[in-house]
Amino acid sequence: MSAGREQEQGAGERAALVGRPVDRVDGPLKVCGQAKYVADVAVPGLVHATMVLSTVSRARVRRIDTTAATALPGVLCVMTHENAPRLPEGGRAAIKPPAGRTLALLQDDQVHYDRQPIAVVVAESLEVSRHAARLLQVDYEPLETALDFEAGKVGAHPPKEAQGQTPDSVRGDVAPHWNAAAHRVEAVYTTPTEHHNPLETHATLAQWHGERLTLHDSTQYVYGVQTSVAKTLGIAPEQVQVINPYVGGAFGSKGSTWSHVVLCAMAARAVGRPVRLVVERPQMFGPVGNRPRTEQHLRLASDTAGHLTAVQHDVWAETSRIEDWLETSALLTRMLYSCENVATSHRLVGLDIPVPTFQRAPGESTGSFALESALDELAVAAGVDPLAMRLLNHADRDEHKQLPFSSKSLRACYEQGAAAFGWSRRDPRPARQRDGDWQVGYGMGTATYPSKRMAAEASACWRPDGSVLVRCATHDLGTGTYTALSQVAADTLGLPLRCVQVEIGDSALPQAPVSGGSMTIASVAPAVQDACRAALARLVELALGDAASPLYQVPHERVQCVGGRLCRRDDPAQGESVAALLARHPGQRVEARARSQPGAEARAYSRHAFGAVFAEVRVDRDLGEIRVPRLVGAFAVGRLLNEKTGRSQLLGGMVWGVSMALHEHTLRDPRYGRVVNANLAEYHVPVNADIGKIELIVVPEDDPHVNPLGAKGVGEIGITGVVGAIANAVYHATGQRVRELPITLDRLI
Ligand code: MOS
Repeated sequence: MSAGREQEQGAGERAALVGRPVDRVDGPLKVCGQAKYVADVAVPGLVHATMVLSTVSRARVRRIDTTAATALPGVLCVMTHENAPRLPEGGRAAIKPPAGRTLALLQDDQVHYDRQPIAVVVAESLEVSRHAARLLQVDYEPLETALDFEAGKVGAHPPKEAQGQTPDSVRGDVAPHWNAAAHRVEAVYTTPTEHHNPLETHATLAQWHGERLTLHDSTQYVYGVQTSVAKTLGIAPEQVQVINPYVGGAFGSKGSTWSHVVLCAMAARAVGRPVRLVVERPQMFGPVGNRPRTEQHLRLASDTAGHLTAVQHDVWAETSRIEDWLETSALLTRMLYSCENVATSHRLVGLDIPVPTFQRAPGESTGSFALESALDELAVAAGVDPLAMRLLNHADRDEHKQLPFSSKSLRACYEQGAAAFGWSRRDPRPARQRDGDWQVGYGMGTATYPSKRMAAEASACWRPDGSVLVRCATHDLGTGTYTALSQVAADTLGLPLRCVQVEIGDSALPQAPVSGGSMTIASVAPAVQDACRAALARLVELALGDAASPLYQVPHERVQCVGGRLCRRDDPAQGESVAALLARHPGQRVEARARSQPGAEARAYSRHAFGAVFAEVRVDRDLGEIRVPRLVGAFAVGRLLNEKTGRSQLLGGMVWGVSMALHEHTLRDPRYGRVVNANLAEYHVPVNADIGKIELIVVPEDDPHVNPLGAKGVGEIGITGVVGAIANAVYHATGQRVRELPITLDRLI
């Protein structure tokens, strides 16, 4: 774009770039292979570590015979519980979930789950370390093992909390309204254990410089890794720097500090060399978290017209016996629909399995499948159209928190989604629509995800050429953070995009929260905006006090920056380029730092994004094959800062919804607890041929309360709603209700 047009569209505080489908600023680096991921980082003297994982679920390690491995030329170290350095508090000094998890750091002989780290082999080459790892002879003493979910339910225990809320909730009185209801649905829905599999597996490179540790680590939380590794090793946080400019996907799996990070640092210290440890694909199915299995009991009751009169949602979720982690599936049931009588509960089933963790829309993804399915069943029972059912029960305020929503455009999502989908053409009777051998069904579901925000800091510094360096210890998980922050900074400063450089992914930068919970932009962009405003104000001060500047002694409020030029608002011809001003002040640092945090709005409003998803499903009447040729998703997510990367996030979420509905399922051998499909050949995710047409509607929404940019998160809401919509469409196509994910053909024939 020419400078002239850019000026015409106005810069300064007026949005010129925000909202536009700007290409990724890091795109060229990525396609040229110049974006360095952890496994690409080369340092002199680098050696390679391979983790050895347990092959049983609960045992004591009697002995590990390392003779053959140690004898292999090129092997530098074989670390087991017998020779690993002792850590403060047995390696448990940093346990403070969710950032600090219960780790396996070779401090004792106990095995608590399948694929628990039990040794680390370090060698000159990756090949030798992998080969040596396979030469270890491990002798286990089997211990009594709890693997049965049904049996475990008997001793289920309440979690301490549910993402900051109480695990149980009650409003009104469910029992009498349940008993007196005109229509009732009572059903059990189950979701399986699932594993995130970002393209880039977890990886760490650890390098000691005396007592200082540099970690290149693929993480969603550089600051969290810095503090939890320091605590675990018993050193000061200032001694640890965590670097991570690019992340090849994460989805929650990289939100915590897992065992391999600390083990890599321990190995590097042991061999006195920089060590790289890349988690192998099958190792992703053990020590780095996963979505836990849930069993959800739903009771929904309505009056004759379909108004909800009682809702009960009881969740049992698996966790590890060594650590509680809760999938908060019933949280959305507290606020999604209007009903006076609502009770929810969460219970944990402790098993000898790995510790679960956040996986894209933890809670809302699994919970919305159950709730949206049950509501569909109630609509059928009441003889009400599923969309009409949702409109009847629309919640105008958050009835759990008893707060207004900061904004809610769900009605518009229903309306626009239904129109685009052609919902009105749906025959209300199930198993009536046919196309040759295909049974055709339409289903829908509501999408929702909280719009969170945490405190963050950022800095902005002018460079002599008139460009600005913006810095913040946040992350780009492939999501578009670099680009969106560049847009926000450029608009705030009145600069073209190319004059802004964003530096992130380093714990030495101004502090930012975990890039999880769909809150990166909501947390970090306001800090970037504030830092840029302050840096611009300092620059203007410099000009106003400079007798050589055409802006000398002009009142501050009369000055603006447009296209990299400072000028008078009332007479733009009067001014000078930023570079010309700075050239007269060589060596002067013009910079600012800002901290931005949620204010009173966090207590005054309930903040959520909403959406509506419509699915067309085709089921082969003989073979049970299930296809999803068409999805329509209408989402209201506040202000979308970048139409291209934002839509990509929503689309990616919807694809994952198809995956969750039809494909993903981690299978454990019930006898030994060993995952039997720990690879991407047998752990099914969709390929291109599995994904049909996806139409995405972003409903405009102005939210003055949610954060200064009015941007709700888009990372996770895309997966919610889709799963229920597909399950409901399968019912509509076939007349068969599948309450167990994934919905596979064997459940339909
Ligand atoms: Mo998300 S599951 O909080 O990375």
